[in-house]
Amino acid sequence: MTTTSPLWGAELDHIRLDSDNPEQLAAFYRDAFAMAENHLDDGSRLLQGRDRRLIIGAGATGEQPYSAFRLPDETRLQAYKSHLTTQGVNLMPSPTPLFGQNAFAVADPDGRQMVFGLPNPAHLSDDGPDGHPPGRLQHVVVATAELAPMVEFYEKTLGFVATDHVLRDEEDGSQTLTAIFYRSTPEHHSFAMFLSDGARPDHHAYEVSCWNDIRDWADHMSDHCIKLWWGPGRHGPGNNLFFMVEDPDGYKVEISAELENMDDGAPVRQWPHSERSLNLWGPGWMRA
Ligand SMILES: [Fe+2]
Repeated sequence: MTTTSPLWGAELDHIRLDSDNPEQLAAFYRDAFAMAENHLDDGSRLLQGRDRRLIIGAGATGEQPYSAFRLPDETRLQAYKSHLTTQGVNLMPSPTPLFGQNAFAVADPDGRQMVFGLPNPAHLSDDGPDGHPPGRLQHVVVATAELAPMVEFYEKTLGFVATDHVLRDEEDGSQTLTAIFYRSTPEHHSFAMFLSDGARPDHHAYEVSCWNDIRDWADHMSDHCIKLWWGPGRHGPGNNLFFMVEDPDGYKVEISAELENMDDGAPVRQWPHSERSLNLWGPGWMRA
């Protein structure tokens, strides 16, 4: 039963992207994703629109140092903290100014932090330009060269619930796991991992309400002379419609619609490692 996971109900609240040119990166998200830009006390920038926000900081381009998930309430947050403490997980101070004082962080085997907490009301706002289609920050995905310890950590330790596996057939008859999609609510995935040749951010995604919203966001990108990097297409795992763009630092960003909802307790499904699994409509983005 999925609801027995102590993480159940957690939703992606924000991520942090680092850049050696944070001003340029912030300007991209402000324009491309219709967000208001504000400066935070620690020198980072908060980009914020309705149901979406991220932090852009000065640092090494290509680093996404943490992803922050909000728990449903304080009781659940404390129960989750106890669940991790009981397992001997090393809890660290929360690095994000957007969560309240009881938030905490844990480091995954690749050294990236996962932060769990509740939003600090001082930074909650629907601030952002009017007149744009909706876009709710919904999932974040990473690439890793060492999938086995990451699976152990995210599934067994943190309690993410596996939805789909992508498996590559090897010549010796064995199978290699090349991607895994995890949920923490009924939505198909809030987090996922791809096997690749190194640890790096893969992409993050904004969920919209329908196909016409995807059209409107693509037209909006066009207004800013931003080419679509992949898609439009439809993913196999998740069955969501999508396109992706690339920001000035090479981070990939997705607009998605119709992401599947899973039944409680649905068993893990398997997909072949193929272009078609990643994009039922056309070319795939193969990470391995
Ligand atoms: Fe995605």
